[in-house]
Amino acid sequence: MDDLSLGELQQLLSLADEMSEIQKRAQPKVPALRNKTVASLFFEDSTRTRLSFETAAKRLSADTMTFSAASSSVNKGESLRDTVETLSAMGVDAFVVRHKTAGLPLAMTQWTDAHIVNAGDGAHQHPTQALLDAFTLTHALEMGNSLAGVRIAMVGDIRHSRVARSTVRAFVLLGAKVTLVAPASLLPPSLIYSDTAETRHEWPVSTSHDLDEVLGEVDVVYLLRMQHERMNAAFISSVGEYALHFGLTPQRLAKLPHSFKLMHPGPMNHGVEIGVDPAMVPGSLITQQVTNGVSVRMAVLLSLLGSAATSEMTKEEKNV
Ligand code: NCD
Repeated sequence: MDDLSLGELQQLLSLADEMSEIQKRAQPKVPALRNKTVASLFFEDSTRTRLSFETAAKRLSADTMTFSAASSSVNKGESLRDTVETLSAMGVDAFVVRHKTAGLPLAMTQWTDAHIVNAGDGAHQHPTQALLDAFTLTHALEMGNSLAGVRIAMVGDIRHSRVARSTVRAFVLLGAKVTLVAPASLLPPSLIYSDTAETRHEWPVSTSHDLDEVLGEVDVVYLLRMQHERMNAAFISSVGEYALHFGLTPQRLAKLPHSFKLMHPGPMNHGVEIGVDPAMVPGSLITQQVTNGVSVRMAVLLSLLGSAATSEMTKEEKNV
């Protein structure tokens, strides 16, 4: 996300708009990426992101390959680099990669000429999540490609969250005002230990440890999951204590204005960050986030692999 300008971000959102129109058709499929091959390499658990990318590739008529780390030669000691080179030799046009190591997708660009799409690298970045969040919120608020002045609270384990690192940047680029709400232990160390302009640079946000205080002043509540798998120490005293202070409970929900919007990237931990049934929350955008994930991933794949490799589809590509 750090490399995208506002203009490029808006261009991708507009292309995703076109893709969402295709998805509404009776036959939601176009030939745009016929004869292209997209391989997904997922070394971390995933349900929605992997299936969302595969659906996106199929709706654009690309061939898909799925690589499952659990049943591959990686278990025979093959290096990741060998795996990437082997698959590239079979003719892969784009790799969609998720891995626990921050920076791995960037390293992969040195090993292959294929395009690399980051589907989440450690606690670093998750750019297509940021795109789908920006797409979902701009549409829900009917604000065009802007979030100017929208007040957003992002609540939870920011410290270990690649979603926060990508989505905050997209929201802020579009003009939103973001407040990170978490216990001090779950905020990024660069925010807690330093107030210098340089270290605050990557987090253009305000922070709070008091959810109840913030709730009265926001339009959007974005909840995050506790990333236990990335924790190497105890960051909270107990899950119950966390839920009490930072969970969206029925009492807190009752205090929010009717027009507020609720977001969550999934997977949700019910009873921890969310103590209400999202289906009963009128402003919940959680299902739309999943639906829109396919449209933005179609936009990303098309902009990398489309015939003109531009953000516009040719007339022929648009045909069913
Ligand atoms: C997120 C992820 O994997 O970073 N999930 C997702 O992509 N839908 C968030 C999470 O795991 O909590």
